[in-house]
Amino acid sequence: MTHILAVSGSLRKASFNTGLMRAAEQVAPDGVSMTGMTLHGIPLYDGDEEAAHGLPEAVIAFKDAIAKADGLLLVTPEYNNGIPGVFKNGVDWASRETNAFRGKPVAIIGASPGGFGTILGQNHWLPVVRTLGMRPWFDGRLMVSRAGEQFDNDGNLTDESTRERLRELLAGFAAFVAL
Ligand code: FNR
Repeated sequence: MTHILAVSGSLRKASFNTGLMRAAEQVAPDGVSMTGMTLHGIPLYDGDEEAAHGLPEAVIAFKDAIAKADGLLLVTPEYNNGIPGVFKNGVDWASRETNAFRGKPVAIIGASPGGFGTILGQNHWLPVVRTLGMRPWFDGRLMVSRAGEQFDNDGNLTDESTRERLRELLAGFAAFVAL
């Protein structure tokens, strides 16, 4: 069984990206267990706090989840054409003490209400992925644009063609993770 951890970078209850993460849990291929999580509870990184108290509990839990995963699916919103601070902050924390990300296969997807579906936000992850020594999977891409038309008011993915594209992407990524 291949285990993939999907992480949504939004804290919003009706988040499109958290909805996309839930859809990924639902369409995971056979032989893959997909667990989704958000970064609620992770404080802003503060080097003084870290020096005084070490890693916060929510960060330790995030790092444990990463350590148990064979691969990571980053489900990223795009803010001002880049990575949202909430998401980068969580990843920065998890890179401390031991780098939880080194060697992990990773795929990046995302959803936004605009026409470009987080293409620039996804690109913004690339130097981070490289610096952390992850193994990016580039054979598939999923930019969910016009998200307002593809999710319901609770952030559930309702668009069947996007669900199918997600299913195909996960099959490809899971095969890469299992290599
Ligand atoms: C945005 N949004 C946005 N969307 C986009 O496609 N490109 C962008 O550069 C930005 N910039 C941006 C900045 C800030 C500060 C906010 C709050 C929002 C809109 C964004 O895609 C939208 O709020 C999504 O709904 C965020 O994702 P979740 O929370 O639905 O997952």
